Amino acid sequence: MARRLGRDELKAGLRAASPTVLPSLLACDFAHLEREVREVEEAGVRALHLDVMDGHFVPNLSIGIPIVEAVRRITNLPLDVHLMISDPAKYVEPFRRAGADSLTIHVEAVADPRPVLDRIRALGALAGLALNPPTPLSAIEASLPHCDLVLVMSVMPGFGGQKFDNEALGKLRDLSARPARDALLEVDGGVGLDTVGPCAEAGAELFVAGTAIFKTNDYAGTIHRLRSQALATTAAR
Ligand code: DX5
Ligand code: ZN
Repeated sequence: MARRLGRDELKAGLRAASPTVLPSLLACDFAHLEREVREVEEAGVRALHLDVMDGHFVPNLSIGIPIVEAVRRITNLPLDVHLMISDPAKYVEPFRRAGADSLTIHVEAVADPRPVLDRIRALGALAGLALNPPTPLSAIEASLPHCDLVLVMSVMPGFGGQKFDNEALGKLRDLSARPARDALLEVDGGVGLDTVGPCAEAGAELFVAGTAIFKTNDYAGTIHRLRSQALATTAAR
């Protein structure tokens, strides 16, 4: 078993690899989970994105702790776990134990994200904070010093395959322009060949893509095309 990266090392590694594409397993073929993971791993991805839904914070159910544990057993890639759940404080520890390397909670789910973000850091994982398309940046402002990652949602969470909401671009632009910013900028929802460029131009570093990758029959080719497109746009900034 390879050594798990520490928080700072993981953050620096993801930043150095950016722009980088994180496949969202939500869209994969769960009947062949290991094969699906292997295929994107061989395409050179730097981390996997796992979507956890509780049927309460979002109107859908998806994967939970046993699947995170199972994925942990078959790969050494960092696991970026997106908690779309109402009571994240209760679950950050079990998900960390299951193998999460980064844990992202939603600002809409808690009265004050800061203690939960601090707890995630204390557990040795990257602390991420997500905001939905209608939520203004002002909602996360006070929590930014407690974040290793900010996840700008470009769809309402709950389902894969939705249309990208351009609202995300303004938020990415605003966050990326801040001179003292330290948190990684991630975008999630409707990211594909047509939207990855504008996201990169706006300053995103990590690009979550589910449908765009797993609903094609050439995962590696798609991942490389997404990255090239992001890279071309980032270079032109
Ligand atoms: C949405 C999830 C996303 C989703 C992205 O609720 O957080 O990670 O899987 O899927 P696509 O890329 O299909 O929009
Ligand atoms: Zn997600």
